[in-house]
Amino acid sequence: MTAAIDWEALRAAATAAMQKAYAPYSAFPVGAAALVDDGRIVSGCNIENASYGVTLCAECSLVSDLFMSGGGKLVAFTCVDGHGNTLMPCGRCRQLLFEHSSSGMLLQTVSGIKTIDEVLPDAFGPRTLEEYR
Ligand code: THU
Repeated sequence: MTAAIDWEALRAAATAAMQKAYAPYSAFPVGAAALVDDGRIVSGCNIENASYGVTLCAECSLVSDLFMSGGGKLVAFTCVDGHGNTLMPCGRCRQLLFEHSSSGMLLQTVSGIKTIDEVLPDAFGPRTLEEYR
């Protein structure tokens, strides 16, 4: 599956999403895109708010797109800033992505391709809760 990932297509989708960002307060537009396990590409942009803390990160909007377009698990992910450079998902967004990750999900990072487990080690997630049921 790794070899089949079209990172260029994902970057193009993330860049197109970034261009739709609503970021009047930070002037820091972000776009994110991911490959889903059925071959779809989902994407999202950051959507800020006058009440700053209410801002939705691009990954938030991507997860909405994932569900609104049929669900599934994320296989590969990339995120870009306003210059089209790779951006790391913030901590909260790593958690968001982890919830919907396929096993071994890959992320394009500022230090190369990494797995979701590398960017969020020893994560708290759905399986943790299962252990307490
Ligand atoms: N931002 C994202 O959209 N995703 C991240 O993972 C990092 C931060 C946005 C939130 C805010 O609109 C802007 O970047 C500056 O923090």
